Amino acid sequence: MISRTRRNLLLTTATLPLMPFAKQVRSADSAASSHTLIPKVGQTQMVPEEYGKTVVWCYNDAVPGPTIRVKQNDWVDINVVNQLEESTTVHWHGIRVPNAMDGVPHLTQPPIAPGEQYRYQFTAEDAGTFWYHPHQQSMEQVGRGLYGPLIVEETNPIQVDREIIWVLDDWKLTKEAQLVGQFGHPHDLSHAGRIGSTVTINGKLPDALDVQSGERIRLRLINAANARIFGIQFEGHQPQLIAIDGHPVPPHQPQQNIFKLAPAMRMDIVLDMTGAPGESFSIIDSYYPRDRYQLNEIVYGSEPLRDDLLTSNIALPPNLIAEPQLNEAEFHEITFDGGAMGSMEGAMLAGEWADIRSMAHQGNFWSINGVSATGHILEPLVTLKTGSTAVLKLKNLTRWPHPIHLHGHSFRVINRNNEATPHQEWQDTVLIEPQESADIAFVADNPGDWMFHCHILEHQASGMMGVIRVA
Ligand code: C2O
Ligand code: CU
Repeated sequence: MISRTRRNLLLTTATLPLMPFAKQVRSADSAASSHTLIPKVGQTQMVPEEYGKTVVWCYNDAVPGPTIRVKQNDWVDINVVNQLEESTTVHWHGIRVPNAMDGVPHLTQPPIAPGEQYRYQFTAEDAGTFWYHPHQQSMEQVGRGLYGPLIVEETNPIQVDREIIWVLDDWKLTKEAQLVGQFGHPHDLSHAGRIGSTVTINGKLPDALDVQSGERIRLRLINAANARIFGIQFEGHQPQLIAIDGHPVPPHQPQQNIFKLAPAMRMDIVLDMTGAPGESFSIIDSYYPRDRYQLNEIVYGSEPLRDDLLTSNIALPPNLIAEPQLNEAEFHEITFDGGAMGSMEGAMLAGEWADIRSMAHQGNFWSINGVSATGHILEPLVTLKTGSTAVLKLKNLTRWPHPIHLHGHSFRVINRNNEATPHQEWQDTVLIEPQESADIAFVADNPGDWMFHCHILEHQASGMMGVIRVA
């Protein structure tokens, strides 16, 4: 009953700051949802059969791993049985879990050694599209295929004809359709990350999206790529964006009708199939201007599903997140620096000043507030008092885009380049283009040491990682 009482309270006192949630406690009326994830080496049919199967690392023999689908406020219980030959962890990206359940090796738990198990338990407080992935050697473990969708259903979902999940990824493959080794090549670390030329949807080359005229589809997009940013356009259609990183936004068409999805981001889209029977349309990815390509195709069947489009409401109910109190916020500036063609001279590396050459020598190309991270145990960039509001000005001083992710909290993106954003979006990962800034605001209501890092996994691995402490 705790959560229900709390919800009623929140609905009637929307202007009050919310109390920190008692996240560890399972409320008596929440249903339990149990799952097993087995990270292991496997083989999948990623490319057409004549090329053979691709050896991957995956959960339960599939890329993506099983879709964990729960209801909002369910108690989620996931046993991870590590059958890899190296240690791992699982991070529940975007879910506001208690710190001990966050899956960060050394910082929040010991890594799960080969042959060992670890049990994660948490309440799925927020409805929306989330995902899970390792946080140990993520550059290689995620890059080899360890990830899966985590869907938290609304109590009263919007009405659609069909729901589709697309987990996007890209791969560097040899002619034999095997992954090119060499994760962490210095060029990938110091430039845009490991970007592959084989783009997959749900672990294989895209199959056309077969639709019917008049159909309404909810499409959940998840970018599980190490580094590729997608800019997706549905030619001939006007899809509505209804949620970012799990959290509702007022339904609208994005700027220029392009869905810009950086690594780790999610978007929920409502796609009304306005084409005529027999028509087909391209789905284009045009984020990198020199690499514009057809991601997929929409193909209409010969029979319409209905003559008139559905007109029912597609706005999702908000999640109950503490509202930042901007008038009493603590303000911090956080700068991201380094990388190829940048002007960074050096940074603190393992407690000592290192110039850019000796940094590069150790595979560290990036810094946050002048510190280039090695490992997950770090002096906090900032320490926030539990329950206080923080505004962080994130400044990208580099020549490269960075999707910056905070664990344990969702934040509102309140400004971009000092201008208010139209929707003050709740996100957990914010893409900041070269030389740009974003201001994020949140209530630090989840105690613990939380990772704060670039989700281009090669950048994270080469120093663009920090810790924000809530205490
Ligand atoms: Cu999606 Cu720190 O991770
Ligand atoms: Cu980055």
